Amino acid sequence: MNRLKNKVALISGALGGQGQVAVAKFIEEGAQVFATDLAPSPHGEVASLLGSGSDKLAYLGGDLCDSELLDQLVNTAITKFGQIDVLFSNHGVMVGKPFLDTTIEELDRVLAINLRAPFLLSQLVAKQMVQQGNGGSIVHNSSVGGIVGFPTMAAYGASKAGLAQLARSMATDLAEYGIRVNAICPGVVDTPMPERYVEGLGVDKQTVFQEMEQMHLMKRLGRPEEIVNLALFLASDESSFMTGSVIPIDGGLTAI
Ligand SMILES: NC(=O)c1ccc[n+]([C@@H]2O[C@H](COP(=O)([O-])OP(=O)(O)OC[C@H]3O[C@@H](n4cnc5c(N)ncnc54)[C@H](O)[C@@H]3O)[C@@H](O)[C@H]2O)c1
Repeated sequence: MNRLKNKVALISGALGGQGQVAVAKFIEEGAQVFATDLAPSPHGEVASLLGSGSDKLAYLGGDLCDSELLDQLVNTAITKFGQIDVLFSNHGVMVGKPFLDTTIEELDRVLAINLRAPFLLSQLVAKQMVQQGNGGSIVHNSSVGGIVGFPTMAAYGASKAGLAQLARSMATDLAEYGIRVNAICPGVVDTPMPERYVEGLGVDKQTVFQEMEQMHLMKRLGRPEEIVNLALFLASDESSFMTGSVIPIDGGLTAI
């Protein structure tokens, strides 16, 4: 219940399938959470928690490609909660397009959201953590798409491989400050993201979902809470000897 007691966590992509679960679980474990996503005002679990008057949660919406918003996020979180101990850099976007058909605009968008924004956001948060002098934990949500190659995922896969490498590189630069940085690489998780991906392909949805299930040794998709449990472990002091790790959490997908 108290694995994140006295910690302040910044969570991006907080209104998405995994993000909403992360916000609720982090609060359940004692954290104060500063949540952000694209929408100007929250919905779903985050809106309910705010509506119930939780003083452990605050929300600020906007596009993380906007560097002014990044500054604003960190500053507002500090004003509200006084410190940042954890960053779960969880937001992301997927473009499902064959390599030969991917446009410059699509490539730039995926890289801007999935790699540039986490780079700049975690840099600001890390600077804050250095100033606080009490270490911290940063968790990037990468993907198995950054480990193995999948059709129609060249831009997404490249961005997620870059994000995993960013975690390793950050870990080496930030170890001296007691700041740990790790990346998680989920298999296909049952959230709106794969739904949108399959819809964009214009093929039979049920067939593609069955194929996606079969790619995992466990023959099913992951559940958001299964992924968030790993993020929570990495955010907490239970993982105090872990940094620079890139961890698949994929029902055995990358074991085959
Ligand atoms: N669902 C999967 O199968 C799967 C698999 C591997 C990795 N992931 C990664 O997990 C993370 C969470 O995804 P999810 O499954 O919850 O999907 P999701 O689509 O439900 O959530 C992603 C969230 O990111 C937000 N976002 C996108 N662009 C943004 C921007 N420019 N600024 C601010 N917020 C933005 C979206 O609004 C959305 O709420 C993502 O990084 C995703 O790439 C997902």
